[in-house]
Amino acid sequence: MLNFEFYNPARIVFGRGAEEKTGELAKRLGTKALLHYGGGSVKATGVYDKVVRSLEKAGVPFVELSGVKPNPRLSLVHQGIKLCRDEGVDFVLAVGGGSVIDSAKAIAAGVPYDGDVWDFYLDEEKGPFTALPIGVVLTIPAAGSESSTGSVITNETGWLKRAMNKEVLIPKFAVMNPEFTFTLPPYQTACGASDILAHMFERYFTQVEHTDLTDRLLEAAMKTLLIYAPIVMENPTDYDARAEVMWTGTIAHNNLLNTGRIGDWASHNLEHELSGIYDIAHGAGLSIVFPAWMRHCHKAKPARFVQLAMRVFDVDLAMEDDEKIIEEMIRRLETWYKRLGLPVRMSDAGIAGDRIGEMAKKLFIGQPEQGNFMRLTEEDALQIYKLAL
Ligand code: NZQ
Ligand code: ZN
Repeated sequence: MLNFEFYNPARIVFGRGAEEKTGELAKRLGTKALLHYGGGSVKATGVYDKVVRSLEKAGVPFVELSGVKPNPRLSLVHQGIKLCRDEGVDFVLAVGGGSVIDSAKAIAAGVPYDGDVWDFYLDEEKGPFTALPIGVVLTIPAAGSESSTGSVITNETGWLKRAMNKEVLIPKFAVMNPEFTFTLPPYQTACGASDILAHMFERYFTQVEHTDLTDRLLEAAMKTLLIYAPIVMENPTDYDARAEVMWTGTIAHNNLLNTGRIGDWASHNLEHELSGIYDIAHGAGLSIVFPAWMRHCHKAKPARFVQLAMRVFDVDLAMEDDEKIIEEMIRRLETWYKRLGLPVRMSDAGIAGDRIGEMAKKLFIGQPEQGNFMRLTEEDALQIYKLAL
């Protein structure tokens, strides 16, 4: 196990009616909020009204900026930064999913910064070292951004999708009512589940030895998700199943399960090239990339895969041959994705694959080292994309 520091200040307020506390929680963050949300689902579902009621009750003034798109765009972030400066906003309240939260984080980091906030996405040395405080009302379990250090933004100039990661970006609170996820379209539920699983895979595939506690925590969380995601697909209003998935989504990405180990993360970056160019949902990109990454990279340490196959995917060890066990596990994973209605090849998502050479090249722009479980070359990336066609 490696040395580590673990710090996560996000207060999680979880359960039925949790949103009623939004106003009081927000009041602790500042004097005027930017209320940031997406394309309208929060108005259609009634979440917006509930949040506004709570803000008004607590006497929290706010201005609004809506229109965050999935795979959030830099241009709206620039608009938000200007609005906050003009209006004297001193904290940001994100109501929505990972895209809204990531856009809120970018705005929060950009307001006190003299340069272009995009700098942070290209060069982690630049920061951010300070940001406006962020609060969250979460409506989809997926990205884990409600308590993560990350923000992922797409720059429309060149369609580069890049991440920044800093502790100052961890939200101060996240209100999480599983009932808010009842209204999710099945495809979004599935994409969210795929992203949650991917966050655990990324951490699980490590070359660090003696990580037994976090291995077993990850295995428990993965099992929970593998069981409950199909249940919520069948019965979208099953509160307890929704609650299991929602809490797993946060635990998967708040860095507790990262402690003492180094995750891989190449699959996420391989995926960001897909969703950056083709604008598909991140979770759908991950269900395409992960089986291919596993087939290409398992040889870097087959024992990791055999352990996962045995403990999480219940593959019978009597099969003996490691290659057979691993292939059976990948096959079971693909079956699970398909059961959720997710693509497992680019062709399933209508992606022709004629730009994979360009994607393999772009992958290394601003992020020259890809993968810690297995360090990838451009040729490796190309081979993985080929396996995913
Ligand atoms: O825009 P609206 O109208 O709100 O609709 C959204 C959106 O179309 C809809 N939705 C959300 N909650 C709903 C709902 N519809 C009905 N009922 C509800 N309760 O769902 C759609 C997807 O929302 P989005 O926020 O894009 O989903 P997600 O949470 O999966 O976020 C994806 C983004 O997060 C990034 C991804 O790359 C992607 O850009 N990630 C962020 C990370 C982080 N910050 O730590 C880590 C992740 O690995 C990921 O890369
Ligand atoms: Zn992800």
